[in-house]
Amino acid sequence: MNSSPLTAPASWYSDPSRWPRERAGVFAKAWQFVTHESALPEPRSWRAETLAGYPVLLVRGEDGEVRGFHNVCRHRAGPLVRAEQGVCDGALVCPYHGWRYALDGRLRAARDFGAAADFDPREYGLFPLNIASWRGLWFASVAENPAPLAALLAPLEQRLAGADWSNLRIAARRTHTLACNWKTYVENYLEGYHVPLLHPTLDAEVHSDQYTVTVEGRTALHYAPPRDPMGVYDGLWAWVWPNIGVNVYRRGLMIERMSPLGADRTQLDYLYLMPEGEAVPAETLAMANQVTAEDKWIVERVQENLNSGIYEHGRLSPKHEGAIAAFQTWLREA
Ligand code: FES
Ligand SMILES: [Fe+2]
Repeated sequence: MNSSPLTAPASWYSDPSRWPRERAGVFAKAWQFVTHESALPEPRSWRAETLAGYPVLLVRGEDGEVRGFHNVCRHRAGPLVRAEQGVCDGALVCPYHGWRYALDGRLRAARDFGAAADFDPREYGLFPLNIASWRGLWFASVAENPAPLAALLAPLEQRLAGADWSNLRIAARRTHTLACNWKTYVENYLEGYHVPLLHPTLDAEVHSDQYTVTVEGRTALHYAPPRDPMGVYDGLWAWVWPNIGVNVYRRGLMIERMSPLGADRTQLDYLYLMPEGEAVPAETLAMANQVTAEDKWIVERVQENLNSGIYEHGRLSPKHEGAIAAFQTWLREA
């Protein structure tokens, strides 16, 4: 007989003092999803994102190499770009006072700075960021020596069994903001137990009575057989520690980043990838919108109840909530 672990205490989700500790213990050590390579199509292309409170920038150099930096000017911490994405003229120029950086991060010119004997521009290059790519997806880590990205994603790679993603391009983006702790949302993503009750349209698409979640390494692989071979879903959803969802559709896929904005707010960034030249089917967007609205409703109500002081611990289903138990174990370790 399996055991039924206690849930993590309510304070994990409601105590704001945990967030800076999680930011340092979880997010500063993990790989975080940044963007797809099609956001950086040519030399001088760049893309800015904020990952758990770390503003970062990926830029493709004149040599074609993608490099990652903290989006923080070494003068007085201005941002290096004003928008989310663009193509620069061969340098990154801080909009605050005009310091100019080469695309490899070196400080080329501190505009109109004045003579200073004790200032060596070579010491003021951009803060570099570890980056790595997998199947066209770029990830970044604030850590100095993160474990190899390929090892983290190996269980998913195996499950994808040679599926070809090489022709995928960014086809749409969507953002949703949730009034809940990031873990409240992640744990909701980690189980299919709620699908028949909360997601009637998703339940009509897949056999949710056969929904399985398998924990392999630091991934949770979800599978539910599609009912309709022509439907929206392919039946595979994957979650990767600590906050990435990979939703595989019949056509294309959607990468979901569950970004904490602080202790009590979470932003979902959806990046839809489709075969080159194809738009995201309207029914795919409609289905994702609906499922997100249903999840938003429940996680925000759960968050209110976690904050209320009435509930301390519950129990996790041995049949359905093994991935939540694993997630809570990894959080304790972090
Ligand atoms: S903060 Fe960037 S130039 Fe001053
Ligand atoms: Fe859900």
